[in-house]
Amino acid sequence: MRHGVPDRLPVAATLARRAAELAMAMRPMAGDPGIRLKGAQDWVTEADVAVERLLAAGLAEAFPQDGFVGEETGTARDGAFQWVVDPIDGTSNYARGGGRWCVSVGLLHEGEAVLGVIDAPVMREVFVGVAGAGGADACATLNGMPIRISRTTEAGRAMVECGWSPRVAVADYVALCGKVAGAGAMLRAGGSGALGICDVAAGRLDAYLERHINLWDIAAGLAVLHGAGGVANDFIGAGSGALGGPVRASTPGLATELARIAGW
Ligand code: IPD
Ligand code: CA
Repeated sequence: MRHGVPDRLPVAATLARRAAELAMAMRPMAGDPGIRLKGAQDWVTEADVAVERLLAAGLAEAFPQDGFVGEETGTARDGAFQWVVDPIDGTSNYARGGGRWCVSVGLLHEGEAVLGVIDAPVMREVFVGVAGAGGADACATLNGMPIRISRTTEAGRAMVECGWSPRVAVADYVALCGKVAGAGAMLRAGGSGALGICDVAAGRLDAYLERHINLWDIAAGLAVLHGAGGVANDFIGAGSGALGGPVRASTPGLATELARIAGW
């Protein structure tokens, strides 16, 4: 395991748990009107802000030398290790009293996602991924048990989640879904990029595609994916870290075909 990761893993797991408990305590009832929009279909709740504060404070206390980026507060610090957190991923589900959401705590080192903890308390699922240096020691677990990507190699046998946000034109999303379904894949959309990528890691899905997604949505998920033997486009290396960009996370056997189908 990369130097520095073993010390950080238990802290990340404990803070993600505390953050998930706070989010549970603040969870809106179904149909609760106390939610606001950052923009069209772009939800934020009081809990997103409170949970991010908890994570930021806990990480700053434990590792003051590390950098930090959060969805709600933006970059606060730079460091050789960079924490990238999404306090609640799947906020649209959370805000409606749904259960498919999670706290996502990722760690980057030298531009690579090296550690991810994703705690989905309603689902009672905790994913942990360690992407070892050059693939060595890579591992991923769900509730402490090892997980592995599926063996799917053909789109015609695949189940693929296509994520969407209002940052992408509806016509482009519909076109992507048409191309993926046209290639014979079964479509899914669950409202949490982090959990979608974890489902690929666990073999429940074969791929997760989204035309534009932000680093905090997927930093932890990428470590889980790589730890479970999955592959993704070079999101961070291609410069999508700052402004977001496309993600294609899949089994190795589907990667080339999906890039061709998506056209990006
Ligand atoms: C969103 C979710 C969604 C994805 C969007 C993200 P949020 O994050 O991950 O599934 O399609 O791109 O912005 O708003 O739930 O934190
Ligand atoms: Ca998110």
